[in-house]
Amino acid sequence: MNPQTTREAWFRGGDQGCITQPLTTARPCRLILLGPPGVGKGTQAQLLGRELHACHLSTGDLFRAASRDEHPSPAMAAALDTMRSGGLVSDKLVVDTVRERTSCLRCRGGFLLDGFPRTLAQAEALETILDHEGVALDAVIAYELPLEEIIDRLSGRRTCSQCKTVYHLAGNPPRKPGFCDRCGASLQEREDDRPNVIRVRMAAYAMETQPVCAFYERLGKLIRVPATGSPEEIFRRTLERLEACAAQPLAS
Ligand code: AP5
Repeated sequence: MNPQTTREAWFRGGDQGCITQPLTTARPCRLILLGPPGVGKGTQAQLLGRELHACHLSTGDLFRAASRDEHPSPAMAAALDTMRSGGLVSDKLVVDTVRERTSCLRCRGGFLLDGFPRTLAQAEALETILDHEGVALDAVIAYELPLEEIIDRLSGRRTCSQCKTVYHLAGNPPRKPGFCDRCGASLQEREDDRPNVIRVRMAAYAMETQPVCAFYERLGKLIRVPATGSPEEIFRRTLERLEACAAQPLAS
């Protein structure tokens, strides 16, 4: 496994960074991946992370990891209930959680933020954190896909219970049904991929996250990428759009 993909500091929290040092490049890439639930942000983060050597920082993965704690704090327990119902976790808890992990934003390997920021308040808080850390964002990729395809992607999703690799029953099945190709652990269906919960997540996206796209468009950072086609096609399309916008070549 690439050293940068362990994400140990992201999951542990605190300001110490990872023990395993990231692969560094002349120009670390710092990106946000935006888009509706199930559009394929996590899938692209895995592919982009390998190409750009940047770490996949997902707030959803953090909350799912916390859901396995036997004794979550009252604030985290409330957040997990909200998550199961498809709503958004409070801005305060999300921003505090990210602020406790600023070492990941300073990381010399760069980062791919996935699932954060999701509201205008979070986007403004992130700007403040990045300014304070002296870190500049390269771009915000907004993936776009028709609703029917999104529902299909979510209903077929399976995730590794250990290493969190994402599969799709039809589009990207594991070699051995029910088990992860990378680590052999069992695959799971996500609780929030039930149809009634998907509807709530979509509504939260339209209400709270679409304005975040407009926010980054005004800052001149937004790159819209159609999320149609295979993961590999979308990955290549993303790199092309990034290259077209970058002043210097991206790391490979
Ligand atoms: P989070 O984990 O961030 O979920 P999400 O944004 O809803 O996105 P998903 O992980 O569902 O989808 P994805 O776009 O990553 O798609 P994937 O690559 O898996 O958040 C979960 C919850 O946590 C939220 O609802 C909220 O409660 C809470 N939360 C997290 N962050 C928060 C924040 N900042 N503020 C407040 N609350 C927060 O792909 C989906 C499926 O499609 C997979 O099966 C995949 O294999 C397949 N697939 C991918 N690409 C393709 C393709 N090109 N063709 C065919 N299939 C494909």
